[in-house]
Amino acid sequence: MKNIVFVSALLLSFAVHAGPASNIAWTPETLNVVKKGDLNKGKALAESCNSCHGETGAGIKAETRDDETIPAIPALAGQVATYTYKQLRDYFDGSRSHDAMTAIAKGLSEQDAADLAVWFSSLPMPQNQANSQIAVRAEKMVGQGDGKRILPPCSVCHGSRGQGEKMDIPALAGQQRDYFVSSLLAYKSGARHNDVYSRMRLIAQQLSDAEIKELADYYQTLK
Ligand code: HEC
Ligand code: HEC
Repeated sequence: MKNIVFVSALLLSFAVHAGPASNIAWTPETLNVVKKGDLNKGKALAESCNSCHGETGAGIKAETRDDETIPAIPALAGQVATYTYKQLRDYFDGSRSHDAMTAIAKGLSEQDAADLAVWFSSLPMPQNQANSQIAVRAEKMVGQGDGKRILPPCSVCHGSRGQGEKMDIPALAGQQRDYFVSSLLAYKSGARHNDVYSRMRLIAQQLSDAEIKELADYYQTLK
């Protein structure tokens, strides 16, 4: 019940901030495209993704070579298919941008995006173990939120095991730590703005950078 009150309070504030975050609407037609994604075609197409996203779709850790930091690459394995589909279409039409991914997504048809989304969702979720201790603060934010800041628990949307939820709520369990951090910082600054109803921007704006890092560690330990 408490969760419902939190979410309703948040939804009210969305109405004020709502903008054209994404062109994807969950119509029966769109859902059908994803539902009809072809696993085998997706598997074949995914060969071109593996060099970056890893052979098992578990993503790649950030790395420092010489003085340069090579950013982490997100895990795609076990991801909610409709979420992956939406991200590929968002890169395609510029709702979300990133040099490499925008170029790649522009080369994919709607059907390709659906095939790839279905393939990656069929793979087991990654298990990227955190190497630091879990902060009590992060655990509390995930399970209870913070009433003082009208922050709902992350778990009401992302699930109690970080498994994600239909349609556009991503799984977070085992996500690459540094990608998780950079995603939240991008929502916080508004550089990433493809979250419909500003759901993640409004939350990220209220999180400190330290909290964001703790949350990233927390989700790495979930399976
Ligand atoms: C050159 C390396 C590279 C290749 C090849 C590549 N990706 Fe990516 N991908 C990235 C990076 C880096 C990001 C993070 C971008 C960002 O922060 O917006 C990303 C992000 C994504 C995301 C968003 C993930 C999320 O959790 O929101 C999806 C979906 C995705 N890629 C799918 C694919 C698919 C499908 C292919 C193959 C057709 C592919 N990528 C090929 C580097 C790559
Ligand atoms: C009201 C529902 C809701 C709540 C509560 C919520 N999220 Fe999200 N989150 C979303 C949605 C929806 C997206 C995907 C938006 C998009 O890009 O389409 C998302 C995306 C994300 C992403 C990006 C994942 C990726 O693969 O790029 C991260 C990280 C994240 N959320 C972390 C959190 C954390 C941590 C909390 C708690 C502090 C939280 N979320 C609370 C709905 C929610």
